[in-house]
Amino acid sequence: MCGIVGYIGHRDAISVLIPALRRLEYRGYDSAGVAIVNGTRLEVWKASGKITQLEEAIATASLAGGIGIAHTRWATHGRPSHANAHPHLDCRSRLAVVHNGIIENYRDLRRALAAAGHRFRSETDTEIVAHLIEDYSTDGLPEAVLRAARDLRGAYAIACLDARMPDTLVGIRCGSPPLVIGVGKGERFLASDIPALLGETRDVVVLEDGELAILTAAGSALRTLDGASVRRASTTIPWDADAGEKAGYPHFMLKEIFEQPEAVRNTLRDRADRHTGEIRIPELGLRDRDLVGLNRLCFVACGTSWHAALVGKYLVETFARLPVEVDVASEFRYRQPVLDGRVLTVPISQSGETADTLAALTLARKHGSRTVAICNVVGSSLAREADGVLYTRAGIEIGVASTKAFTAQLAAVILLALKLGAARGLHSPELIRETVKRLWDVPDLMAGVLERSDEISAIAARFVQSGNFLYLGRGIHYPLALEGALKLKEISYIHAEGYPAGEMKHGPIALIDRHLPVVAIAPEGPTYEKITSNIEEVKARDGIVIAVATEGDDEIRNRADVVLPIPRALVWLQPLLVALPLQLLAYHIGVLRGCDVDQPRNLAKSVTVE
Ligand code: AGP
Repeated sequence: MCGIVGYIGHRDAISVLIPALRRLEYRGYDSAGVAIVNGTRLEVWKASGKITQLEEAIATASLAGGIGIAHTRWATHGRPSHANAHPHLDCRSRLAVVHNGIIENYRDLRRALAAAGHRFRSETDTEIVAHLIEDYSTDGLPEAVLRAARDLRGAYAIACLDARMPDTLVGIRCGSPPLVIGVGKGERFLASDIPALLGETRDVVVLEDGELAILTAAGSALRTLDGASVRRASTTIPWDADAGEKAGYPHFMLKEIFEQPEAVRNTLRDRADRHTGEIRIPELGLRDRDLVGLNRLCFVACGTSWHAALVGKYLVETFARLPVEVDVASEFRYRQPVLDGRVLTVPISQSGETADTLAALTLARKHGSRTVAICNVVGSSLAREADGVLYTRAGIEIGVASTKAFTAQLAAVILLALKLGAARGLHSPELIRETVKRLWDVPDLMAGVLERSDEISAIAARFVQSGNFLYLGRGIHYPLALEGALKLKEISYIHAEGYPAGEMKHGPIALIDRHLPVVAIAPEGPTYEKITSNIEEVKARDGIVIAVATEGDDEIRNRADVVLPIPRALVWLQPLLVALPLQLLAYHIGVLRGCDVDQPRNLAKSVTVE
């Protein structure tokens, strides 16, 4: 998705904007640009490609000026090109606009503006915003933006400036794309999300849907679309400046893979008492009697978060004997789900800004369902709009492929399942206590698995040229098969498919031949015999088997071509361990194939539009 940054203050804006854009690179993009007001002159520089190209373009420019906006574009309307790169200008090149989201009625507006004499330079929906504001600009920039917003339909976050008002920066948010104000000393920032502000400030004010921000070097003011004033205190973000650095790792993704033991510990901390087994999650906003009164739970999510939700189904049904539905948010929001006050809807999202998941939450609340979000970003839209929130504490996740957020989500759904089970009294306190005790052992076990990264890199080298992969899992490991396949395809561009292993005879077995690597998730547990039969079926047809198996399982060693061992653990805790070799296998194959594993092609870190 596109990245927006803005600055107004005592420094040269360019010295703030380019580093801030670099901190947004992880969102994925295809072009970049910057607009600065130098005196009363608007200066604009754009480049197709990476921020490095933009830096080369401005290398000889004297970009002085204490106010500016900048942008990384993830193409929606109009192909990646210099002309379509933001910022976009009005006819007189005095107004500049950057935008994240989609203006749904831009064609009608473009026709009307062109008929009124406006001249367009790009194919984008964004450019019409600059010309619309130009039409209203006699009333000053804030009022012009408010009036333009009343003509726009869609979901968008916009930052804009006017060379005739060099002391004012304006931002507006309508719908899901986020926009935050950074509060500094004698300076203010505007950004699509908090990582862009790391190193500049930790104090932010998050814009709600339908709000306009007016920034000067000395302060900021919020308005609703009908012009009413809004007061909102700033929030201090618990991330430190180097959270957005690689800390010696070659990629953010590898750093985040290795941060998973700590991410899980942090997510469990002060919520699961390893001695008494007590589960305390006050931020759920639900008392035990509310939990007892539930008759169904609905998980909704997208991508990797949906896989965590699928694991959650097994756990909640095991511990709480509560019926669970799991839906991808883009389906949930367009079907007619049967919800009421006895249903708990749990959207899961790392970013808390995924458009489909936000829409699913809105739909659930409209039907009277209680809602608890599982989310990784403090103050994100999802966290603010749900009745309760169970934060994963994975820290900032820069790699587009989600890793530590996923295992932190698994820890969160385990906590939720145990909490529900304890409240509903369907399991002995001893079982809950033993599970919590063993849960606290998992981070150290995870660290042990991560020590095998180099071994997995050597294994990966054997499969770099493979054209397809099949991932198989049963029971609680079926979602892990889906996740392993997603990790591989999104960072190595090799097609991979996750399948419930029991479905092999219903079709996928036709794919088996000596060219097809099959990753079989086969740790000890209730489905072990069945999955080893699947392995036999694959071997009988000359398939290649990579088995994720429990350490010391010699039987698997005699059957599989490759074994990725994990330590012994309770079956419902195994997903936290199984995820690691799958992530490392995908990572190393992606790196060996020369892929940009932190910013895979076509992908964005947070899908803030449909
Ligand atoms: C995960 O590796 C992917 N990048 C993607 O599927 C992601 O999980 C999905 O877009 C959901 O994002 P969210 O958790 O921020 O809502």
